[in-house]
Amino acid sequence: MRDALSRVITGAASLLATACTAGFAAADNLPARDASSQVERGRYLAVLADCTGCHTAPGGESFAGGRPIETPFGKVVAANITPDRDTGIGNWTDEQFDVAVRLGRAADGSWLYPAMPYPYYTRMSKGEVLAIRAYLSSVAAVHHKVTSNQLPFPFDIRAGMRLWDALYFNPGPFKTDPAKSAEWNRGAYLVNGPGHCAACHTPKTHLGGDRDHQTLQGYSVQGWFAPDITDSTTLGIGNWTATDVVAYLKSGHNRFAAASGPMGEEVTNSSSQMTDSDLAAIATFLKNVPGESVATRPLDSHAPVMMAGAAIYQDLCSACHNADGTGVAYLIPSLAGASSVASREPTSILRVVIHGAQSVATAHEPTGPAMPAFGWQLSDAQIAAVATYIRNSWGHAAPAIEASAVQKARKAAG
Ligand code: HEC
Ligand code: HEC
Ligand code: HEC
Repeated sequence: MRDALSRVITGAASLLATACTAGFAAADNLPARDASSQVERGRYLAVLADCTGCHTAPGGESFAGGRPIETPFGKVVAANITPDRDTGIGNWTDEQFDVAVRLGRAADGSWLYPAMPYPYYTRMSKGEVLAIRAYLSSVAAVHHKVTSNQLPFPFDIRAGMRLWDALYFNPGPFKTDPAKSAEWNRGAYLVNGPGHCAACHTPKTHLGGDRDHQTLQGYSVQGWFAPDITDSTTLGIGNWTATDVVAYLKSGHNRFAAASGPMGEEVTNSSSQMTDSDLAAIATFLKNVPGESVATRPLDSHAPVMMAGAAIYQDLCSACHNADGTGVAYLIPSLAGASSVASREPTSILRVVIHGAQSVATAHEPTGPAMPAFGWQLSDAQIAAVATYIRNSWGHAAPAIEASAVQKARKAAG
């Protein structure tokens, strides 16, 4: 039983994990003047926190829930958070709502799974969470019954989360670091609080808690690799300027990268709708997160696997990405200098080469370019060779990829 509970914990936690430990102060600097400004403030906070991303099912009504969040042991379905009195949260008091969002406890006192990112939302102030409540009270009430807990026994035992909270949950609002600028503090609050960036980008312990000493150094989620976004020039986004960071978060593209998969959703629902000053604050903070650098040497370009990879690259990839890997700014991402290419885990690049990718389209850039799929055309060994080649060219260095890893990636992404 203890084993089973610890697996519940691992699974739920590996999806979304705990808060960052630095204690910081509530940045509650936008006092609401009247009811309508309170609703507007709550709407913007809900954008920062991407509440809609999980609580609106694809094609479903806003905030009516029903989107299953996959965990290794089963599904946890996001709840209906519209003001419907029977199936939503219309009957909840403000206090109950605040406790759910910042402390991870449902109205009946039971533990929520950290598939709901309360370990990050706890960095918001009570005033901010009540503004979100005011906004949610203004949306259409939808009668839609959702059964959140669809986990099989014994994973369905919510009390297991009590132990997880004890291990990994560090409640309390953001505290300002007086040694840093106001802009840095705003960025730190957005990234560690409502933006819950660490939920996907921070490596997890074997029990699924954030590895705080490796904050934002990359983690695999939903079959994608959320890359290192520290200021490391070898593994992270150290080669990006603050302007590059803002462009990526606002439009989904910049000269190095194009956002697809879970990050495409994040850009659509959240960062593309953030104010320019909030995006600049996030960039200032990320450019100040120290990362690790690695001093691995690239594979010898005359090694057989590199020569095979180079030939495939010339033939199938260079027309778009260029022989020198530079791509076309804002249309075709540069593979040279892109940390995602030489990242610790090749999950995303294998997925993109096998299945292709359609990067996100935003109001700022309506047509996202597409990467064609090569999985039907290239064997496992050929994909391994071309991936090894791009991971060891133009200044990148990373271990060779085996054909067996490609076979696994084909299966994982279905
Ligand atoms: C990453 C996905 C995700 C995001 C983002 C998210 N939620 Fe949730 N939320 C969930 C899941 C999954 C549950 C169900 C958890 C459970 O039953 O243990 C949930 C449960 C809740 C509940 C409890 C409802 C009930 O009936 O018990 C509330 C309230 C809630 N979320 C509000 C919010 C608000 C407000 C936001 C934005 C600030 C938000 N959520 C963002 C996934 C998410
Ligand atoms: C639901 C998971 C998830 C969340 C939440 C998330 N990201 Fe990401 N992020 C990803 C994934 C996956 C990728 C890789 C996308 C790709 O390969 O197209 C990514 C890519 C990125 C990149 C590009 C890195 C590179 O080298 O190409 C940046 C920058 C980034 N995210 C910043 C953020 C910030 C800032 C936040 C919080 C406001 C955030 N992300 C929240 C999953 C997430
Ligand atoms: C028709 C033009 C085209 C061709 C040919 C092409 N790509 Fe791409 N590639 C793109 C576009 C556009 C994207 C961005 C799409 C996205 O990430 O959603 C991309 C993205 C990528 C990425 C992810 C980069 C990142 O930062 O997220 C990798 C890796 C990649 N391509 C490798 C290759 C390889 C290897 C080949 C040859 C086997 C190849 N591409 C052929 C257009 C192309």
